[in-house]
Amino acid sequence: MNRNYNLNSLWLSLLIMVLIVPLSAGAMEMDDCLGCHSDAEEVGEELFIDEDKFTHTVHAEMGCVTCHESVTDEHPDDGEAVTNTACLDCHEELGSEYMATTHAENATCSDCHNPHQVHGLKAVSRQDMNQQCSQCHEGSDVLESHTGWLPQADLHLAKLPCITCHTSAENYEIVLNITHKEKTTVAGSYPLSKYADLKEYSGEKEIQSLIDINGDDHISLAELRTFNRNPAYANLHLSGTMVPGEVSHDLSTLDNRYDCTFCHASGPGSMQTSFLAFPTEDGAYRRMTVDEGAMLDTLYGTPNFYMTGSTRSASMNIIGLIIICGGFIMPIGHGTLRFLTRKNRKH
Ligand code: HEC
Ligand code: HEC
Ligand code: HEC
Ligand code: HEC
Ligand code: HEC
Ligand code: HEC
Ligand code: HEC
Repeated sequence: MNRNYNLNSLWLSLLIMVLIVPLSAGAMEMDDCLGCHSDAEEVGEELFIDEDKFTHTVHAEMGCVTCHESVTDEHPDDGEAVTNTACLDCHEELGSEYMATTHAENATCSDCHNPHQVHGLKAVSRQDMNQQCSQCHEGSDVLESHTGWLPQADLHLAKLPCITCHTSAENYEIVLNITHKEKTTVAGSYPLSKYADLKEYSGEKEIQSLIDINGDDHISLAELRTFNRNPAYANLHLSGTMVPGEVSHDLSTLDNRYDCTFCHASGPGSMQTSFLAFPTEDGAYRRMTVDEGAMLDTLYGTPNFYMTGSTRSASMNIIGLIIICGGFIMPIGHGTLRFLTRKNRKH
């Protein structure tokens, strides 16, 4: 409902702009603009627009002039400053939500989003999302403040998008990324595979075919297993993360994120829906659905992703807890996690 309303109002504003803009602007088209602005030597790094990245975004459908209304046919010789349409003119509802948050005083929309490279939540990796935050929240500071209460804070910060803990959503999903073991720089954290990396493996074929063998745009447990066991892919690992189902722009500290069981024992429910995100040529991602419950098949489904406490099977939880405790024999279940938190909070 909400979303529909949001979309309708967006398209309405868009329609209005498309109708008005041609009257006020010259005849320069997107291709003309890109003729200069996609050439860094012509306009310089500051004014460079990456054509590949821009043309794949929904913003490209509107053309340049919709957002830069004042540009004339004599540009740039006229020496006139070019106007930028405010994000809020089109993203009204989201804007008013954001403006009510404490962050609004600290960051503008374009601090986090490059208007020429926008993507939705589902097309962005956790690393790219966290890049947005790390412009202002320096990694070492964040690590320090989170280490105070979160065991293996470095692992958590590497594996989770900040927004999983700092925005609220109705549901959370598991997203798997393909990572490259041979390109590791930080121990225990493999960098995400890029499109070109995976193309080396798939050759002529689409990179999706590395896992989606039958090409049905869906990944079955059997396909996942085949991929994980294929010695040719020994350097490719699946790395899981937990992502909110939708974005809220209220970035705040949520009390229940101190609670380890929010993730580690939220039960099979949140683990049912999962996706595999393939990188695309333009630097975004495309998600493919994975068999329901695949994440619960810890031994054969995804050997590199396991959130203790989330499986249906008590014996799997026991194995997981043993892994978590690094081999120490500890009491099992919520108690252990509670105990771990308490210990860490004392510091
Ligand atoms: C002939 C090459 C050329 C074309 C075509 C061109 N631009 Fe530019 N554009 C420039 C140059 C050079 C500048 C820097 C001008 C300056 O600093 O005075 C610039 C500056 C800009 C700026 C930044 C202005 C500011 O005040 O910071 C925007 C926005 C812009 N152009 C948008 C566009 C759009 C939209 C189009 C197409 C409708 C377009 N340009 C077409 C060369 C071009
Ligand atoms: C959805 C709206 C939107 C569209 C579409 C759009 N721009 Fe922009 N553009 C902006 C905004 C907003 C800014 C100011 C960004 C900032 O303040 O950092 C901007 C800034 C610029 C700049 C200044 C350099 C920079 O990156 O900040 C140039 C040059 C530019 N745009 C050119 C273009 C060209 C050429 C196109 C089409 C190929 C285009 N824009 C399409 C919104 C848009
Ligand atoms: C002229 C109207 C217009 C302006 C101005 C505009 N947008 Fe958009 N934007 C849209 C439309 C239409 C969509 C597609 C519908 C949607 O996803 O909400 C969109 C989508 C997006 C998306 C999601 C992209 C995706 O693939 O789902 C982001 C992020 C975004 N805009 C950010 C911005 C930011 C930041 C600004 C200001 C710098 C801005 N927009 C300015 C019209 C606009
Ligand atoms: C502090 C960082 C930050 C600021 C500021 C911010 N956003 Fe976002 N926004 C995000 C993150 C993180 C996402 C998740 C996807 C992504 O990273 O692009 C997102 C996603 C979006 C989406 C896509 C929603 C979807 O359902 O896929 C839109 C549209 C959007 N933002 C618009 C805006 C607008 C408009 C503003 C300014 C009012 C704004 N954002 C300010 C961080 C920010
Ligand atoms: C343009 C700068 C900027 C960006 C980008 C940014 N922040 Fe912030 N953020 C701030 C400032 C400034 C504060 C207030 C001072 C502080 O606590 O450091 C703040 C405060 C916070 C707080 C504490 C607020 C509270 O209510 O408890 C959280 C949590 C936070 N940011 C998370 C994020 C996340 C997550 C992202 C990325 C999606 C992000 N920030 C991106 C500047 C930024
Ligand atoms: C596992 C959940 C979790 C993750 C992941 C997480 N945070 Fe936090 N964060 C918290 C909690 C809980 C607090 C409150 C901590 C406190 O009171 O000391 C917090 C506090 C903060 C604060 C305010 C305190 C301070 O350090 O100034 C900022 C800013 C912040 N986080 C930013 C981030 C950023 C940026 C990321 C991603 C790199 C991130 N967080 C990832 C749970 C998380
Ligand atoms: C927002 C979700 C979230 C929260 C909250 C959270 N974790 Fe985690 N935790 C994860 C994820 C994701 C991993 C990494 C799983 C993987 O990829 O192996 C992880 C890994 C761990 C590991 C390492 C396990 C291993 O296999 O190496 C420990 C220990 C751990 N968490 C304990 C805790 C404790 C204690 C708390 C509460 C203070 C907590 N976690 C809060 C999501 C979370």
